[in-house]
Amino acid sequence: MIGKPRIAPLLLGLFVGCGDPPRNCPNVAFDGGPCPSYQNDVVPIVMDKCYECHGPGGIEQSTHDFTRYSVIFSQKGTIFGQIYGCLMPPTTAKNGDLTMTEKQTFLFWLNCGAPNN
Ligand code: HEC
Repeated sequence: MIGKPRIAPLLLGLFVGCGDPPRNCPNVAFDGGPCPSYQNDVVPIVMDKCYECHGPGGIEQSTHDFTRYSVIFSQKGTIFGQIYGCLMPPTTAKNGDLTMTEKQTFLFWLNCGAPNN
C-alpha cells in the first residue's frame, strides 16, 4: 500500500537543514541594466569584503583564492548562493556585510555571466 506523500515534514526538514539565517537577508534584485565591470566594480568589493579571508594570507585562500579571476569565475555559482543567501561575508568579518548596492552589483555581475570586463 502506498502512503500519502509527506510533504510537510519534507519541507520542514529542508528549512531545518538550512538553519536560521545568520542575519536579516532581504531579497535583492540582480538583473536589469548594463553588466557591471569586473575590474572597476567587482574587484574593489572583493578586496574590501572578501580578501580578509579569501585574499593574501587569508584563512580561505588555499581553496577559495579570490585574488584570481579564474577562481571566482569557476566558483561563480557557489559565490552567488553564498551572497544571495547572506552567508558570506560571515558575521565575524572585520569589514562587515556587503551593502545593498555592493550585493546588487556583485550578484548582477555574476548573473550576467561573470565576464572579465
Ligand atoms: C572573516 C572571513 C571571511 C570573509 C571576510 C569572507 N569569507 Fe567566504 N569563507 C570563509 C570561510 C572560513 C569559508 C569556509 C567555511 C564555509 O564554507 O563556511 C568560506 C567559504 C566561502 C565560499 C565557499 C562556500 C561553499 O559552500 O563551498 C564562498 C563561495 C565564499 N566563502 C565567498 C565569500 C565572498 C564572496 C566573500 C566576500 C563578499 C567572503 N566569502 C568573505 C571566511 C570568510
